[in-house]
Amino acid sequence: MQDRLYFRQLLSGRDFAVGDAIATQMVNFAYLIGDRETREAVVVDPAYAVGDLLDVLAADDMRLTGVLATHHHPDHVGGSMMGFTLAGLAELLAREPVPVHVNRAEAEWVRQVTGVSATDLTSHDHDDVVQVGEIPIRLLHTPGHTPGSQCFLLDGRLVAGDTLFLEGCGRTDFPGGDAEAMYHSLRALADLPGDPVVFPGHQYSPESSAALSSVRRDNFVYRPKSIEEWKRLFG
Ligand SMILES: [Fe+2]
Repeated sequence: MQDRLYFRQLLSGRDFAVGDAIATQMVNFAYLIGDRETREAVVVDPAYAVGDLLDVLAADDMRLTGVLATHHHPDHVGGSMMGFTLAGLAELLAREPVPVHVNRAEAEWVRQVTGVSATDLTSHDHDDVVQVGEIPIRLLHTPGHTPGSQCFLLDGRLVAGDTLFLEGCGRTDFPGGDAEAMYHSLRALADLPGDPVVFPGHQYSPESSAALSSVRRDNFVYRPKSIEEWKRLFG
């Protein structure tokens, strides 16, 4: 399966949405995941210049068959943020009407923020699998940053959205955030077998990815060993 996997990590302001001040400042990662044999691919968290992401797929001779959304924040799916309107799901779907895979608990938030209709969204539960060609992508429900945040596990890689960064984790003080839920989500990720490589939702550290074992060792969010300790430090 290794040689069939198509996997690209793209940084906003550098690899797409070049020259866009917000995209450059926000340092979001979008991901393209596909099957090199069937040429099918999904995009994770399309925002800012969605046309650029489609252009990358076209240049690689890949065909978009779906979208995976980690959570509803506009820097990941488009919508209004800090007085700016960011492109995202709505603009992408206008060009390529494909299913958008969200966690069930996030669907309504995504709909409200992006303006897409409920029928555009495919709601999933924890541990559902989205198949891209012959590549299975496991959806992990990891609430905390938002109620329906989800991470994606495929072929030794963990696409972690704003749940787990290489340093730190997503904030829990935005609407729908939950510090206690975040503790449990981070623990669940730490316990994943096989030491997957963590691919975060933002470039908040010099490295763009790192083995889960090193994140578990170095990231301060893994210092608290109990929910009580976690709440004292991060609650
Ligand atoms: Fe976020």
